[in-house]
Amino acid sequence: MTHVVTENCINCKYTDCVDVCPVDCFREGENFLVIDPDECIDCAVCVSECPANAILYEEDLPEEQKIFILINSELSKKFNNISRSKEAYYDADKWNGIPNKLKFLKK
Ligand code: F3S
Repeated sequence: MTHVVTENCINCKYTDCVDVCPVDCFREGENFLVIDPDECIDCAVCVSECPANAILYEEDLPEEQKIFILINSELSKKFNNISRSKEAYYDADKWNGIPNKLKFLKK
């Protein structure tokens, strides 16, 4: 089991989560972050840092977000390491809470 970045991160990418991760398990795409499931130690400190509430424990994922287990796993092999927070994605506050953003995910 691991923690998973879910849909609401898309087009928000606040990156606050990155600064508290003790094992640098976040990977960065253009408009989304993922957690490398092979690196995550399930400490959960990132969960409360996310202004978009986008990080969930795998077992707590609602049905429609379970696809993000696979997305985190696959994209963690492709995205680059990120270990310091940076400016949020353009118009992040506008996108926070907008449903059905999966179609906007840039891989
Ligand atoms: Fe995404 Fe939240 Fe981190 S929006 S980049 S999971 S702080």
